[in-house]
Formats: sequence, C-alpha cells, structure tokens
Amino acid sequence: MSSLQGKNIVLGVCGSIAAYKSALLVRLLIHEGASVRVIMTPDATEFITPLTLATLSKQPVLVDYFDPKTGEWSNHVQIGLDADLIVIAPASANTLAKMANGLCDNLLAAVYLSAKCPVYFAPAMDLDMWKHPATKRNISLLQSYGNQIIPPGNGELASGLSGEGRLAEPEEIIAFLQQQSSEQNEGDKPFSGLKALVTAGPTYEAIDPVRFIGNHSSGKMGYAVAKRLRDLGAMVTLVSGPSHEIVPEGVDLIKVQSAAEMLAACQDHFQSSDIVVMSAAVADYTPNEYVDQKIKKIEDSFSLPLKRTTDILATLGQQKTDQQTLVGFALETNDELANAKSKLARKNLDFIVLNSTNDAGAGFSTDTNHITIIERDGQEHRYELKSKDAVASDICEHVLAHRHSL
Ligand code: CTP
Repeated sequence: MSSLQGKNIVLGVCGSIAAYKSALLVRLLIHEGASVRVIMTPDATEFITPLTLATLSKQPVLVDYFDPKTGEWSNHVQIGLDADLIVIAPASANTLAKMANGLCDNLLAAVYLSAKCPVYFAPAMDLDMWKHPATKRNISLLQSYGNQIIPPGNGELASGLSGEGRLAEPEEIIAFLQQQSSEQNEGDKPFSGLKALVTAGPTYEAIDPVRFIGNHSSGKMGYAVAKRLRDLGAMVTLVSGPSHEIVPEGVDLIKVQSAAEMLAACQDHFQSSDIVVMSAAVADYTPNEYVDQKIKKIEDSFSLPLKRTTDILATLGQQKTDQQTLVGFALETNDELANAKSKLARKNLDFIVLNSTNDAGAGFSTDTNHITIIERDGQEHRYELKSKDAVASDICEHVLAHRHSL
C-alpha cells in the first residue's frame, strides 16, 4: 500500500510557468489514494485554470478566503489543521519569501501559517532568482522551521536559459513524499524516545566588561547535528555559545557564554541523555580573574595570566555509562590521526570526528566539512568534502550504528 494512501494533502500551486505540471502531480497523488485539496495563489490561476485542477482533484479549488457571490468562507485554520501534509509545487520565489517571513496576504500563505503538519516545498524559478542570496536565505529559514525542500532540477528554463531552478518532475515529487511519509510515522524514527545533548559554537571568556577571549567557531556543525538528531526523532537540547545560526524548530536551546557555563549546562543534562555530541570549540584557558572595570592601557606591554578550563568532554567521558553514546570532535593541524586517536581514548569516547585544518573547505565558518570518523577499535572512515548538513547525517549514521551495538 502506498504511504500516501488516505492522506489529506494540501497542494499549494503558485504563479510559475511550471504550474502546468501540477495537473500531473494531482493525478499521481489521486492514484496513490490521497485526498487532494488544491489551493492556488491568485497569480497561479493565470497559468492553469482552477477548473482543470478541480476536475482532477475531484474537489473545488480554493483561491480566496471567501466566495464573493455566496459569502462562503474558507476556514484557513481548519484546512491547515486537517492536512496530513502540505506540498507547495511549484513554489515561486515570492511565495517562499512570504512563507519565510510569515506574510499571509492570500489563502495559501494563511493555510501555511496555520498548519501543524509537515510542509514540503518544490521551488521553481529562473536560475538567477534561484541563486540570489535572498532566495537562499528564505530557503534556509524555511528549513530551520522544519519545512523540507524538494530540490529543483537542472535543465531548460522558461526564460530560455539553462540551469538550476526547474521544478522537480511530478514523479520525483511523489517519490520524495512517499519516502518522507513512510519515515514520518513517529515510531519508525530511529531515535524516537531518546534524548540528545549537543554542544556548539565558541565560548567567550570574559577579561573585563568589554573584552573576552574567543575563537572563530560559527556553531554551524553543531546546529546541523542538532537538526539531524531532531529529524531522526530525538528530543534535543542544544547548549550553544554565541552563534548567529538559526535554532532548529523543536530543539531546546540553552545559551551560554563561558566554558564554565557550558560545563554547568552539560552537567545538568548529561545523565538523562542517551546521545551526546560535543562539537563546541571550548576555550582551553580562561583569565585567572575577571576585572570588573575596563582595563586601561598604562604599560607598554601587558600580560594576562590564564588558567585551564575544565575539559567538559573528558569530564562527561568519566561519568559515561554503557548505555550512552558520547561523540567528540578534534580539530588538528598536524599528526591528525594520532592526536585524534589519543583524544578518543583519553576522553573515553565512542567515536571521534576529526577535522583537519589541512583540508580545504573544512573547519570554522565554512558551509562544508571534510571529516574522518575514528572508532574505538581504530576503524577509520574518511568522507568526501560535503555540506555540514550532509556531514551531520553521516555522524548520525554512526551514532545509530553505535546504538545498535549496545
Ligand atoms: N572540549 C570540551 N571542553 C574543553 C575543551 C574541549 O568539551 N574545555 C571538547 C570539544 O567540544 C571537542 C573535543 O573536546 O569535542 C576536542 O577539543 P580540542 O580542543 O581539540 O581538544 P583538547 O583535548 O583540548 O586538546 P588540544 O587543545 O591539546 O588539541
């Protein structure tokens, strides 16, 4: 039986030439046994008629909040609540921008804002619009709300140009939705019922009211891991130093500044956590003492006495039980494998994720990472350069394998 059988699906259709493909998409969804309610934006009706989509979906198509002739009102909140999933295909740059920013000047945008179900969007636009930083930012925002992109294809575009931005083919959209909706069943998620603790970002060690010792960590890797663990069903607590990353929806954030605060937050949550991934770049040293007034420049030279911070990961490693999975990171400049292996043993980890500064595209602030995972028995898994989201998936695969071995 299709995983879409019996599902209440809202199909949002936006003003894009690719709207013609939504006719086939409706037919395929109906073939899968889904009930399809089409909502079009006013612009979409210029590209394909509501009559076509109403006939294929066997239900009236909705465009406006109400019918001016009869006064019949389309209750957007109820439509959003009744939906098992919403798919917006084609999703225009304009509608994506509205969704990302919470605008609701048409019925489709209002239904989106009211919905509690999974939302998928299949962008369709010209390649320059697709590449624009505003579009990229809107897509990242939508992903941070837990909405999922059905990636566009590459090929001939309506403008005559060729490139990325073409609506995914209806068959691909169906395959994507089928796969997702079979994973959706909460009980099917591999980490469902498990608690996860993730650290991310740098720590700031205050010197005086205006100065601190910090580092360039962006938090991107830890936030990506938190998001992936959430997607796999875990209840995630993210302990983060200062970061500009968007907190994934459904993840509990604890904001900290210093290594000492990060340690305290981790201690509060460690015992109840099944999975712990420590990706924060914690300061190894902190000023001996905090000066509560701004330090004035008086002498020609100045030295600042520092003391060691507590190694949070090693502390948790000592407390770890056999039922917990503990993962650390190592950022190395030389003797990478030997150093990472020694950290793995010293801190009592289940596996360690090695980043080498010698690899282009790896490390702080980049969107990509190049990692090697080293296991307790010495096995090494070296990965290609990938997006941090894809690296987070690889790390979670290893966590899953470790959970199976318990
Ligand atoms: N870590 C931590 N607490 C610290 C320092 C590091 O929890 N005070 C964690 C990091 O989150 C990371 C791992 O330890 O998962 C590796 O950190 P790193 O600074 O590379 O290792 P160190 O053991 O501090 O060794 P060194 O600085 O000598 O490379």
